[in-house]
Amino acid sequence: MSERTAYVNGEFLPESRASVSIYDRGFLSGLGVFERTRTFGGEIFQLDRHIARLYRSLKAVRLDAGLTAEEMHETTVELVKQNKGLLGADEDYFVGHYVTRGPDKAGRATVVILCEPIGFDKFAHHYICGGHVITTHIRAIPTQVWDPKIKSTSRMHLWLAEQQAQLVDPEAYALLLTLDGNVTELTAANFWIVRNGTLVTAPVQTILSGVTRGAVLEIAQHLDIPVEETNFQLYDIMNADEAFMTTTSRCVLPLTRINGNAIGEGKPGPMVGRLQKGWTEVFGQDFVVQALKHIDKDKVPEGEAVPL
Ligand SMILES: Cc1ncc(COP(=O)(O)O)c(C=O)c1O
Repeated sequence: MSERTAYVNGEFLPESRASVSIYDRGFLSGLGVFERTRTFGGEIFQLDRHIARLYRSLKAVRLDAGLTAEEMHETTVELVKQNKGLLGADEDYFVGHYVTRGPDKAGRATVVILCEPIGFDKFAHHYICGGHVITTHIRAIPTQVWDPKIKSTSRMHLWLAEQQAQLVDPEAYALLLTLDGNVTELTAANFWIVRNGTLVTAPVQTILSGVTRGAVLEIAQHLDIPVEETNFQLYDIMNADEAFMTTTSRCVLPLTRINGNAIGEGKPGPMVGRLQKGWTEVFGQDFVVQALKHIDKDKVPEGEAVPL
């Protein structure tokens, strides 16, 4: 077998034959919810937590996937099993679950599960020099519009924010503020600062409750690092000792510039190092070593050593 398979509405199909209706309301109107889980060494990581969040999103938008959470779990495990053999050395999958409104108002939802190789070369260099962040004039969707805990496929505002940030700095991650100027999250990651030895991150009322965010809360407890879940502003980032993001593909990735200014010393700091090491202790994977195997050396600024 040389082609990956995907699951579409009850069938496992080669990706080249996997398709959905042109009348699907997910395609026409962006009506759907999704998840992105990752594998480590081809084994799916924290699938239960992602599926639980998927079913909370489904409930919140009144969509019925037509599968129980247990069936979704079993189907996912089977799909990953089918595709595992196609992973190259040190590669892993993003496993995407997409449930949309379907083609027919009265009919069933569309359910797709797919395995997409993680593009480590896009971000591996950020573990060495840190990622850059730009705050955009595109704001987070107010919680009165929809609850950010819903992992919605409607991501126009996030795409616009990303475009705006990357006009300023092609490598930048966009950070969205609320209408009141409180920090929320990046377009596909939770955002954290380190202030006097404490991890500070936005409260779950204004963000997606990241599975990786939960993993870092666990690590912080394991390492006895204090955490504050509270509102903070751009001013606090400008005055922070360190900053980092948490997201499924990148786990814990340092961020070293905000709107062109250095955060702290302007390089990955000791707290990020502790959390990355803590991840290996608690969960057993060294995600930095894996990502660095795929590094695009042209993206590493001159003078920075690549440790492999
Ligand atoms: C808006 C948003 N915030 C945060 C996250 C991080 O969530 P997780 O750690 O579950 O990947 C994501 C992930 O895609 C996201 O889309």
